[in-house]
Amino acid sequence: MAQIFHRSTNLIARVSILGAVFIIAAVTWALAALNRSPYVTQVGVAREQPVPFSHKHHVKQLGIDCRYCHTSVEEGRFAGIPPTETCMTCHSQIHATSPMLEPVRESWRTNRPIPWTRVYDLPDFVYFDHSIHVKKGVACVTCHGPVDEMPLVWKASTLHMEWCLECHRQPERYIRPREYVFRTDWAPREDQRELGRRLVREYKIDRPERLTDCSVCHR
Ligand code: HEC
Ligand code: HEC
Ligand code: HEC
Ligand code: HEC
Ligand code: HEC
Repeated sequence: MAQIFHRSTNLIARVSILGAVFIIAAVTWALAALNRSPYVTQVGVAREQPVPFSHKHHVKQLGIDCRYCHTSVEEGRFAGIPPTETCMTCHSQIHATSPMLEPVRESWRTNRPIPWTRVYDLPDFVYFDHSIHVKKGVACVTCHGPVDEMPLVWKASTLHMEWCLECHRQPERYIRPREYVFRTDWAPREDQRELGRRLVREYKIDRPERLTDCSVCHR
């Protein structure tokens, strides 16, 4: 029987299959890179706010504790954003006429909350709880970065599932004594491994097999 296709067709077919495989691989790689990029995750990008509230100013320079404003972080799932009243305890006197603080005064006059832009926001199908992390020695800075250095808050972690699991698999690498959870000037030292192992026992932290179980975060 006569050949319908010329011999070279075979080669062309092979080359184009290879080409397709290559393009698919390249696109997959590009999408994965995009998914981890600041453009998508917003990591490291300072967020505009209706009032330029500075943690650097209030925490580092004035020395106000996180719990003064994020009052429910020790007992509840949510840390909470402070109501306007918290700002007004000081700003009814300090900088009482500053134009920068006009949105705060307006909120106070009209009884409408300041529309802060959320920085950290998990999808609704993920269960998270601040209080357990705080009780077991996971510090604010471990998840939120050096907040006391931020004139405007930026996201310090992706909040991807892999990020949570990285710690749930080996919490001994990250936890610290409870009394340093709110401190921004404490950093892990050379003895973190031993200290971490000791704290895991002392705080009765569960085994990684349990902490990486799907039902822990997807209930
Ligand atoms: C004087 C009040 C005050 C203090 C003290 C304070 N915060 Fe805040 N915090 C705020 C306000 C107001 C916002 C909302 C505006 C913003 O994101 O900057 C906020 C936002 C945040 C956010 C981002 C929340 C989100 O997802 O939108 C984090 C994280 C945070 N604070 C952590 C901390 C930590 C950690 C400390 C202690 C080291 C601290 N804060 C101390 C008032 C305060
Ligand atoms: C414990 C007192 C205290 C609380 C509570 C407080 N602040 Fe302040 N804030 C200050 C002081 C003191 C300064 C100014 C220090 C300076 O000028 O060096 C300041 C400065 C500011 C400035 C800069 C004002 C300007 O004109 O330069 C803004 C904006 C501000 N605060 C917003 C807020 C907001 C929003 C809240 C509530 C979430 C808040 N502050 C809560 C004490 C406080
Ligand atoms: C184990 C990581 C982790 C630790 C530790 C942690 N946070 Fe968070 N924080 C998160 C995540 C995740 C969110 C987003 C929660 C959501 O969207 O439901 C969040 C949200 C917030 C918010 C936004 C408002 C809210 O309640 O959701 C504030 C404010 C905040 N954290 C402050 C703090 C402070 C202050 C500390 C230290 C006492 C702290 N966080 C410790 C992971 C952490
Ligand atoms: C830096 C470490 C660290 C990170 C990051 C972290 N966790 Fe945890 N998580 C812990 C530790 C430690 C415990 C306490 C476990 C225990 O008591 O056995 C815990 C406990 C929990 C619990 C309660 C588990 C139970 O006993 O039922 C939930 C839910 C949880 N984490 C969700 C999350 C989610 C969701 C994220 C990511 C957004 C996250 N965690 C990120 C360290 C971490
Ligand atoms: C420590 C907490 C934690 C555990 C344990 C966990 N997840 Fe997740 N999961 C998350 C978070 C956080 C997200 C949201 C990720 C995002 O928004 O990018 C997520 C997202 C997902 C998604 C949506 C797709 C994606 O990747 O964004 C699926 C599906 C999923 N998880 C399945 C599972 C399964 C199956 C298990 C058990 C093997 C599991 N998860 C265990 C925290 C967890």
